[in-house]
Amino acid sequence: MLAQTPPLGWNSWNTFGADIHEELIRETADVFASEGLLDAGYEYVVIDDLWEAPERVDGRLTWDAAKFPHGIPALAETIHSKGLKFGIYSCAGSYTCAGMPASFGYEEVDAQTFAEWGVDFLKYDFCYVPPGIDGPALYSRMGQALRATGRPILFSICEWGKHKPWEWGARAGGQMWRTTGDIHDAWDSIVRIGFEQQVGLEAYAGPGRWNDPDMLVVGMYGKGNVAHGGCTDAEYRSHFSLWCLLASPLMIGCDVRTMNQATRDILLNREAIAINQDPLGRQGYHVGQVSHGREIASAWAKPLEDGSIAVGLFNLGERQGRLATVAWESIGLHDRRRCRVRDLWSHADLGIFTREFSTRVDKHDVALLRITPIRD
Ligand code: GLA
Repeated sequence: MLAQTPPLGWNSWNTFGADIHEELIRETADVFASEGLLDAGYEYVVIDDLWEAPERVDGRLTWDAAKFPHGIPALAETIHSKGLKFGIYSCAGSYTCAGMPASFGYEEVDAQTFAEWGVDFLKYDFCYVPPGIDGPALYSRMGQALRATGRPILFSICEWGKHKPWEWGARAGGQMWRTTGDIHDAWDSIVRIGFEQQVGLEAYAGPGRWNDPDMLVVGMYGKGNVAHGGCTDAEYRSHFSLWCLLASPLMIGCDVRTMNQATRDILLNREAIAINQDPLGRQGYHVGQVSHGREIASAWAKPLEDGSIAVGLFNLGERQGRLATVAWESIGLHDRRRCRVRDLWSHADLGIFTREFSTRVDKHDVALLRITPIRD
């Protein structure tokens, strides 16, 4: 089954937008190996919008020859030779969001073309859908066309949550679906899309079917296509922690060729990635206010296969060093249960606790914990 665990990779849009070319994609693929991204599980290299030539040729999509002089199939081959998978972008309407030719009425021929090119992942957008056309039906159409190629192509539905794709995305053949509009490289965007708009969607996710709150902005620091002022390292850490707890696809959006150490420490945190990739495939849920009236800003919990529970305690407020607590009763554990607590950012065991665990969390930062009940 495709996407047994949430897909991990990189997408060109957040940083590069229109400014894509084959050299950039090759260099990015090289960095997957040299920076350890491949070893950490990142697999898909995805080209977003604006790879296309402005007109079809003989009814078929083709690439912008100035950006991809050796062609998309050769690029796919290079990416495959590095042990990676190759993703591309199209749209359910007549044009892509950036105004290039798209797949409405061409679903079969485009799916066939992508399969011939060696595509492993299709992100499928929702701009320029003719009026009166049923949106979800267009996704079923492309889902069917992809299936008919016989090539396993992960189908990434991108209709921004407009028609509740969590209710029909898997039936349409999708393995992931955007639940919101586009993310920006700014804390208020992370709060809105991540902390506010994902609440209650956890029942719809599982192996082969993931809610997608959009790509990561970690490491962008206010540079690139979706820049909106940028974030602090604490904010990027919170963003990544929440996406791991939400079992979201982790699609890196920064320029991986120039990552600084803080970005590496976030994107390559194996213990956080293990939470995201946990085989149980449960999406984390919002716990909210916990314990004896003490305020904590936002707590999220994700049950794991070994019986542990991953917990994120987020300080969404403006005060440094806010005391945050997770009470066992709020995550379904008995008060007297003895649990080991591990901090997944400092990579340290913090001890054995009953009833609750408290820690201080700085402004917009997170404590990401693995709470493991002891069998006694
Ligand atoms: C939409 C999508 C984005 C990106 C652009 C490309 O806005 O939501 O993720 O793919 O289109 O034009």
